[in-house]
Amino acid sequence: MSEPIVLGIESTCDETAAAVVQGRTLRSNVVASSMEEHARYGGVIPEIASRAHAEAFVPCVSKALADAGLELSDVDAIAVSAGPGLAGCLAVGVSGAKALAWASGKPLYGINHVIGHIAVTQLQFGPFPKDTLALIVSGGHTSLLHVGDVARHIDVVGTTLDDAAGECFDKVARLLGFPYPGGPHIDRHAQHGDPHAIRVPQGLTQGKAGAKHPYDFSFSGVKTAVARWVEGERAAGREIPVDDVCASLADSVATVLAKKAMRGCRQYDSDTLIVGGGFSANSQLRAKLLEFGRSNGVEVRIPELRLCTDNGAMVAMLGVNLVEAGVAPSAPDFAIDSAMPLTKVSM
Ligand code: KG4
Ligand code: ZN
Repeated sequence: MSEPIVLGIESTCDETAAAVVQGRTLRSNVVASSMEEHARYGGVIPEIASRAHAEAFVPCVSKALADAGLELSDVDAIAVSAGPGLAGCLAVGVSGAKALAWASGKPLYGINHVIGHIAVTQLQFGPFPKDTLALIVSGGHTSLLHVGDVARHIDVVGTTLDDAAGECFDKVARLLGFPYPGGPHIDRHAQHGDPHAIRVPQGLTQGKAGAKHPYDFSFSGVKTAVARWVEGERAAGREIPVDDVCASLADSVATVLAKKAMRGCRQYDSDTLIVGGGFSANSQLRAKLLEFGRSNGVEVRIPELRLCTDNGAMVAMLGVNLVEAGVAPSAPDFAIDSAMPLTKVSM
């Protein structure tokens, strides 16, 4: 099989998505989001998301195949996110994918959604170099990974000890009165602010804690510092300089992520950094990573915006990697895993 054709299906959170990838070529990419239905609750409501998946599953998969000009019988394999994610949401995608696989006799791979976020960069930049470093920044994860082989071998080099970067942004956004998800609002306001207006700590970068946790992250201190400052200003009756608050927060978070990622690349002798996850859409982080990459001689591979947030292409791409590597498909009775560890690529 020279260029495997894989149908990828995604339903971990609020996006129902399906896509077809052939080798390193994206042949179709369909995404339906239920985010608007959650916004007024200030967070994703699992039951609403599950129902939306049940409604969108067949239309999404049908459109992905039709856009690629294919029938289900034309694909070499099906891949579906088996975790981590919301249990009810995962159950819809995985049950649907199992039915398709059983009916068509195609092999099925239950894949790790988070690893899909980094795998997707291959559509733009080609195959991974061997032994490379990856930075995962999604809503729930902030981790540095050593990727020996994306289909089989991944180690966690560092991870957040408390909040993920995306969570930290979403929490500060709520404090500033932005609707959920707040990350993109902080991004937009930060573009007009002064990143040095407010002193914001850079967690685990200095002193003993920094030395003990060179590759780990902590964003709860950042969140608390910004919250205290804003509350203090409000109590004093002063107007909050929202753009400056956003810019200072974004600069601190982006600088810590970029510094630690570059340090990891040096330590692991990697001249490439793969970046993925919803938070990699953040423009301050993208700029900072590219800047640090240039001065450290590291090629930084960040997905184009539409492939940063959840999609089916990331699932299909990782499916292609598994087929190419000759990894056995998942057993027909594989279970979903809401807390799937980052070291597990497929079920
Ligand atoms: O990976 P993702 O789509 O969902 C998970 O799998 O967790 O990531 C969603 C996260 C949310 O916290 C959202 O606020 C954040 O990514 N996000 C952003 C931006 N776009 C999405 N954060 C900052 N700036 C952005 N432009
Ligand atoms: Zn995600």
